[in-house]
Amino acid sequence: MTPPPTPTDPPGDPHATGEGPAPDDARAALQSVRTEVARAVVGQDQAVSGLLVALLTGGHVLLEGVPGTAKTLLVRALARALSVRTARVQFTPDLMPGDVTGSMVYDSGREDFTFRPGPVFTNLLLADEVNRTPPKTQSALLEAMEERQVTVDGTAHPLPTPFLVAATQNPVEYEGTYPLPEAQLDRFLLKLTVPLPPREDEVEVLTRHAAGFDPRDLAAAGVRPVAGAEDLAAAAAAVRGVQVSPEIVGYVVDLARATRTAPSLQLGVSPRGATALMASARAWAWLSGREFVTPDDVKALAPPTLAHRVALRPEAELEGVDADAVLRTVLSSVPVPR
Ligand SMILES: Nc1ncnc2c1ncn2[C@@H]1O[C@H](COP(=O)(O)OP(=O)(O)O)[C@@H](O)[C@H]1O
Ligand SMILES: [Mg+2]
Repeated sequence: MTPPPTPTDPPGDPHATGEGPAPDDARAALQSVRTEVARAVVGQDQAVSGLLVALLTGGHVLLEGVPGTAKTLLVRALARALSVRTARVQFTPDLMPGDVTGSMVYDSGREDFTFRPGPVFTNLLLADEVNRTPPKTQSALLEAMEERQVTVDGTAHPLPTPFLVAATQNPVEYEGTYPLPEAQLDRFLLKLTVPLPPREDEVEVLTRHAAGFDPRDLAAAGVRPVAGAEDLAAAAAAVRGVQVSPEIVGYVVDLARATRTAPSLQLGVSPRGATALMASARAWAWLSGREFVTPDDVKALAPPTLAHRVALRPEAELEGVDADAVLRTVLSSVPVPR
């Protein structure tokens, strides 16, 4: 995924209809988000692209990478570039489910218990280091992500719209971590790997620090809010209008089916995973300025959408095969429509 070109604005007053931002304005707003994030984060374009795709499709994102690669900074910068409600939860070993979802508290005025919403009641939730917290608390988050509501004492409390969880985790090999349950990883639309930066990017990071950049003060770094809930709603609606031809649908299905017979996999991509790939490719096509999905959109989004939805055979794992390698093989073997 390389950043799409910045589209040019059409002439005319897009607000003349009074129905919120026109699609091209919404796209420009989303492109500006990328520019704002880049004031804080050097590079990591794929992760930024993935977060934008998730915003447009109502999906959640898991960011994985070794400590110190700007996972937290990236989501904090995104939160600042959007004028929506955001919250951050540090997932520590002693965090309780209610610390995330909320709990019943005694209201002395009403002489009764009332629900006090937890930090999950927000638009963009940074769930930082999710794999440092025990399974019970992880489950509370994953359930809220899936159901978009929190149920306490039989009463459902709906979460706001938009609602996006950007969770970060260290690679699972790290000690003292509780890996997220594999069967629930598909609650994340995308799993994005945040790599160590190339040398030139790292030089730029240090140069900015030398010039006074303070990652704790994003306002001073010049990161401004450039898109709001209205832009996101208009953009999401425009994405739903992006054409998916029968050939593209067939291609996505063929890719999913090929993972089910891949020799290194014990579990391939489900129809739910195939649907997710179509949705993420569609958002990517729109961000790239197109009204239709191409096979290249599908190919670009296949690794981050599918890799966490397949399970390797133990033998393959021992031989050092990883899901991305299997997906590369699948992508090169399934005929591409044209
Ligand atoms: N690509 C990058 N762009 C800008 N700063 C970076 C980058 N990578 C690392 N840093 C620096 O390293 C710090 C650590 O980032 P942080 O977001 O806490 O990492 P993580 O959450 O991945 O452990 C940042 O605050 C920043 O100073
Ligand atoms: Mg962090």
